[in-house]
Amino acid sequence: MSTKTQIIDLLRSTNREGIENVINLLENSDFFSVRCHSHHRYTGGMADHALETLEIARKGSHDIPQDSLIICCLLHDLCDIHGYRQYKGHGQRSVDIAVKECGLKLNEDEWNAIRYHMRRGEKRPDNTALGNKVYMADKISAMTGWLRRGQIPKDFVNL
Ligand SMILES: [Fe+2]
Ligand SMILES: [Fe+2]
Repeated sequence: MSTKTQIIDLLRSTNREGIENVINLLENSDFFSVRCHSHHRYTGGMADHALETLEIARKGSHDIPQDSLIICCLLHDLCDIHGYRQYKGHGQRSVDIAVKECGLKLNEDEWNAIRYHMRRGEKRPDNTALGNKVYMADKISAMTGWLRRGQIPKDFVNL
C-alpha cells in the first residue's frame, strides 16, 4: 500500500470532526510530494517523515489514544505544504492549517502536541505522554533521515 493511501486511511480511521476536510487539503496540496525540513529533503519526504514518526510513536504507546497519535504524528509538519502563508510559525502554522482551514477538532493535548512538537517536555506549557511521544518520535525520525543522508545534525556536532 502506498504511503499516500496509508496516511489517508489512517486519518479517516480517526472519524474526527473535520478530518475529511484535512484529507481533501492533503490531496489537493503538495503534501505528498513536498520535502520536509533538512532531514527528509527529497520529493515525498514530508509524507515519509509523517508516517515514520507515527510508526515510531506507536511503539510502546498503548496508553495513548490511537486517534491522537495518528492525528498529531501525521499532521505535525503540515506547515511545510505550500500556500497558507497567512499563518506564521512552525507548529503554530501546522495547527492553524488543520484547525482554521479545515475545521479539524483537536483537544488541548493534541493542539499542544502539534504546536510544541519541536520542544522537549519541560519547555512546553504541558508535559503529557502524547506531547513527549510526538516530540521524541519526530526527533528519532529526523535523525534517521539525516543518517540516511550520511549527515550528522549540527545540533549534535557541537555537543
Ligand atoms: Fe517540525
Ligand atoms: Fe517533523
